[in-house]
Amino acid sequence: TDLAHIRNFSIVAHIDHGKSTLADRLIQSTGTVQDRDMKEQMLDAMDIERERGITIKANTVRIDYKAQNGETYVLNLIDTPGHVDFAYEVSRSMRAVEGSLLVVDSTQGVEAQTLANVYQAIDAGHELIPVLNKIDLPASECDRVAEQIEDVIGIDASGAIRVSAKTGVGIPETLEAIVAHLPAPTGDANAPLKAMLVDSWYDSYLGVVVLVRIMDGILKKGDRVRMMQNGSVHGVERIGVFRPKMEKVESLGPGEIGFITASIKQVRDTKVGDTITHDKAPCDTPLPGFKPSVPVVFCGLFPVDSSEFEDLREAIEKLALNDASFSYEMETSAALGFGFRCGFLGLLHLEVIRDRIEREYDIELITTAPSVIYHVFMKDGTMEPLHNPADMPDLTYVDHIEEPRIKATILVPDEYLGDVLKLCQDRRGIQLDLTYAGSRAMVVYDLPLNEVVFDFYDRLKSVTKGYASFDYQMEGYREDLLVKMSILVNDEPVDALSMMVHRDRADMRGRAMVEKLKELIPRHMFKIPIQAAIGGKVIARETLSAMRKDVTAKCYGGDATRKKKLLEKQKAGKKKMRQFGKVDIPQEAFISALKMD
Ligand code: GTP
Repeated sequence: TDLAHIRNFSIVAHIDHGKSTLADRLIQSTGTVQDRDMKEQMLDAMDIERERGITIKANTVRIDYKAQNGETYVLNLIDTPGHVDFAYEVSRSMRAVEGSLLVVDSTQGVEAQTLANVYQAIDAGHELIPVLNKIDLPASECDRVAEQIEDVIGIDASGAIRVSAKTGVGIPETLEAIVAHLPAPTGDANAPLKAMLVDSWYDSYLGVVVLVRIMDGILKKGDRVRMMQNGSVHGVERIGVFRPKMEKVESLGPGEIGFITASIKQVRDTKVGDTITHDKAPCDTPLPGFKPSVPVVFCGLFPVDSSEFEDLREAIEKLALNDASFSYEMETSAALGFGFRCGFLGLLHLEVIRDRIEREYDIELITTAPSVIYHVFMKDGTMEPLHNPADMPDLTYVDHIEEPRIKATILVPDEYLGDVLKLCQDRRGIQLDLTYAGSRAMVVYDLPLNEVVFDFYDRLKSVTKGYASFDYQMEGYREDLLVKMSILVNDEPVDALSMMVHRDRADMRGRAMVEKLKELIPRHMFKIPIQAAIGGKVIARETLSAMRKDVTAKCYGGDATRKKKLLEKQKAGKKKMRQFGKVDIPQEAFISALKMD
């Protein structure tokens, strides 16, 4: 296809504003997929994605569109992940296209996430087409939302297309706008090959599939290509496009988007953002701005049933095969036995992986407190990255500790602003900015990442009844008064519960932890002290008193089935517990104890 008849775009939207529905409608109305093949939400294939209403892996589709001017265009849509954890993937896929549809739910308005993604689109030099969706709903307020888009984002929204992705109203106008307003790609077919590695994933039938955007040159089947970051060379075996099903093509030229397979063993060997060129006639310079995504949140994953360790290893290895941003290494804990220390891009990424292990592989897990990476500066001038509070070096050798900070942007209706400010203040936040756009406030805070990784989203949602939206970016490291707090149950330290906290908040957190644990740990035949300590100093203490009666005592031995049931129930309850010394701690204690109120 000649460049003038190609349009490449992505859709920027907040979760639930209708990105997938709109994409489906564009695919369907152009006849790319026959109606009878149209499954609900073509673009969100994975169950978990659908269930959580998020899109994780970038997907793409090529649409042939006959425009009103009688000419046929190739429209390539790249679906971007919607969540902050995947910000780097978003920025990559944005650089693979020239424009975006900015979809805003006309019953809701602009959200923090929309903003973050819009800025990425603007950074990538995109032309933006504002689209107001869900106009079929009575609560739709197009004029107000258009005005808000102008106020908050600063782009002209007077001509925003009014759409109902549900009924199909506005879809022809959207397709025409893509052709009329988005620039055609540029590139030189005669120049050496320069292609962007936009995404890659493992397909059990094809092996590693690589999504590419050709900048210059021509990519053909049989070509020997080189990944410029790691220098590896591969022979291209298959080449094709998504309609949205895979369809083979002979070659891909400038401006085109498609996939290749090239006997690549694992997804890890393909770095998103890398430049692909011909091995024999390479281009001079790689594409700018390559930056691998690095895990920022770490936690331990242990099987509840220690005999499932090998199953867990297999599950983790399989998941890692298709997710280069998920890292893991084996870990042993005195209390939890064998497990893995895993690194994630963020909390949501953590939850998705944990859910998949539990659901797809049917392994019950104990998840230890999520932790960020601290920089521990030693007195001898060296710095040690600390991924696990359990590995905290002896304090006498430590000079100071630095922690990662984020810049968080929160959009919230006026009436909840006070609660949001209090929440951020409680989490050691420093307010950077506060502005208004209509009846909503936009607050920007500098926050320690460790105060956000655990339950910040949940708290934010609950104090604002779900009306706030949140987005963040990493801001670098800063020194603070951080200490390791240990939890001792029956005088034994439970590593999985130890955490790094700010000195000024340690007493409060310690007290809250021991109180929660006292509720969560069942009574035993003996008295159990539960303590929080910093170094050798106990800062909080509770005592769980001993159980007085045998649970079956009140059955009088008469009702045998009842007695049996009770014992079975006890046994089932036991399954979810782990023994620490002589004490059984239920799995839920590891998570619940860490939630702050
Ligand atoms: P993620 O894929 O999770 O990022 O969400 P999304 O932005 O793709 O949203 P999705 O397309 O899944 O739509 C969210 C919800 O809004 C779904 O229940 C859709 O059926 C509904 N929806 C989407 N477009 C419209 C519309 O035009 N009108 C109405 N009434 N509902 C819509």
